[in-house]
Amino acid sequence: MENLKEIAIITGASSGIGYEMALLFAKQKTDILIVARDEQKLMIIKESIEKQYNIKVYTVATDLSVREGIKAIHDVVNAHNLTVTYLVNNAGFGDYGSFIDRNMDNYAGMINLNILSLTELTHYYSKVMVNNGRGKILNVASTAALQPDPFFAVYGATKAYVASLTEAIHKELENTGVTTTVLSPGPTRTNFTDRADMNNARLFEGGVMSAKEVALVGFKGMMKGKLHVIPGFRNKLMGFFSSITPSGKLRLSIAARMMATSKK
Ligand SMILES: NC(=O)c1ccc[n+]([C@@H]2O[C@H](COP(=O)([O-])OP(=O)(O)OC[C@H]3O[C@@H](n4cnc5c(N)ncnc54)[C@H](OP(=O)(O)O)[C@@H]3O)[C@@H](O)[C@H]2O)c1
Repeated sequence: MENLKEIAIITGASSGIGYEMALLFAKQKTDILIVARDEQKLMIIKESIEKQYNIKVYTVATDLSVREGIKAIHDVVNAHNLTVTYLVNNAGFGDYGSFIDRNMDNYAGMINLNILSLTELTHYYSKVMVNNGRGKILNVASTAALQPDPFFAVYGATKAYVASLTEAIHKELENTGVTTTVLSPGPTRTNFTDRADMNNARLFEGGVMSAKEVALVGFKGMMKGKLHVIPGFRNKLMGFFSSITPSGKLRLSIAARMMATSKK
């Protein structure tokens, strides 16, 4: 049996924000367990990170939108006697368009991934961390969490759940040595737009951040045990105006304009 080894679990680490997050842990010499569906991509990343940073990379190729997907993570953690000190719940996807025109099965998969798997992993590992007296969890929401989002309704609702859950637990875990942090990125250049079918969205026309910039803000926020971090001045400003605009038709009209398709 191997000795207890401290690791960071990062879901959705095969591309975008999760991949950049994996690199940040690797740079600080923390062993990582990376999760995504595409096994080949994970193996390429494992090989490259282990070679460059001289850390151990565990891979779990699994679909987190099904309940059994999570068991595959626990199996690897238990088999190697790993101590999970950091958890980044980053895997997630969106689906852009009119609510009634989009596919319900896809919505169900999104809710399972963005909400259910994140809740289950947070529940399981926050308990482990509290027993160990230390740990940090970063849950990736979105600026879409900050108000209802016409034409991105289900996605925005899943991310509002993530923000609400994570902030509430942050309070509950005070004085346990464990912190939970919300990361709410705005438009970020990753594979997200292709999967969400939103390359024609106005939102992505200007002020798009890189995954590297976003991951760094999330990583620092998590390490400091912050409650909620929003990367980028433009996104912070948007978040601020959304928070001071009363819930109602005006706020919805502004959000609908932001979420409209490009006129190009
Ligand atoms: N990009 C943006 O503009 C933006 C803005 C705000 C918030 N976010 C949030 O940021 C997070 C990361 O997204 P990203 O922008 O970095 O997008 P991305 O490049 O598409 O990365 C998504 C990651 O999640 C994994 N994944 C997707 N479905 C999965 C499933 N069913 N089971 C396990 N892993 C799965 C993907 O790998 P596989 O496909 O191999 O499974 C990939 O590693 C998401 O939660 C997203 O909602 C993104």
